[in-house]
Amino acid sequence: MTPNDLAFVAELTRQQAGVIIRADKSFFVETRLGPIARREALESVAELIDRVRSTNDATLTRQIVAATLVQDTSFFRDRATFARLQESVIPTLASRDKAPIRLLSAGCATGQEAYTLAMVALESLAPPRIDIVAIDFSAQALMKAETGVYSHFEVQRGLPIRSLLRHFEQADDHWKTRPDLRQSIRWGEHNLLDDLTPLGEFDIVVCSHVLSAFEPAAAAATLDRLDAVCRDDGFMVFGANESVSPPAAFASTPTPGVWRRSSAFPRVSSAG
Ligand SMILES: C[S@@+](CC[C@H](N)C(=O)[O-])C[C@H]1O[C@@H](n2cnc3c(N)ncnc32)[C@H](O)[C@@H]1O
Repeated sequence: MTPNDLAFVAELTRQQAGVIIRADKSFFVETRLGPIARREALESVAELIDRVRSTNDATLTRQIVAATLVQDTSFFRDRATFARLQESVIPTLASRDKAPIRLLSAGCATGQEAYTLAMVALESLAPPRIDIVAIDFSAQALMKAETGVYSHFEVQRGLPIRSLLRHFEQADDHWKTRPDLRQSIRWGEHNLLDDLTPLGEFDIVVCSHVLSAFEPAAAAATLDRLDAVCRDDGFMVFGANESVSPPAAFASTPTPGVWRRSSAFPRVSSAG
């Protein structure tokens, strides 16, 4: 892939998803775009990029951008974070009143994070009180997430055996999430660069291992959009090792990556 073609794709990805692709990612991007070129019956990735350059085809452009996004994920990623949600945050929210607890998995990739949230929530809540919304830019990742089918390799990455036996059933040589887990999650194609308020408000907003790939201005604006959908007594969750700072209204907790809104601070939307 020529530096010029890589720069073209990187600029599309920056504009449309807010994500930075670095100059040393040529092999990664070419590998990801190969299947799209073949599906379009084109000889090479160079031809695919020429086509997008000359036609500005919006659907193809979106597919190219989605293909360049890193989808790496696993069940119970950042184990201490999910332990805190299970042992402290969700039981506290659940004891508040009888309303459903709403959780957002923003940048859910192939679903492992949202299913982990469902498993953790089921420890203290009955299914009707769990409402998880999981969104991503990538339609392909969401398609896999919605099926809830994972390989041995995928379940071995982080899923405790007790959770596997309780929440999955074996389907040939794969594992499928049980219906109660799937029913607590609604999946949606949504760009984090767009307004999130149509999704409603959430008690817990998880945006883990997403914003560190964003260019700084897009990350800052996305944090404000996440803030706008986080309830007054809500939580924001990022990757434990990420250096993401949520808006000033959020205070850190003893668990790295877990932040709690302080009721003394006004919401961004009401601050004007
Ligand atoms: C590295 S994965 C992280 C998955 C999961 N949150 C976790 O921590 O395991 C990043 C995800 O963010 C998604 N993403 C990147 N930019 C996005 C955007 N602008 N809007 C929505 N999703 C985006 C990617 O498609 C990918 O699925």
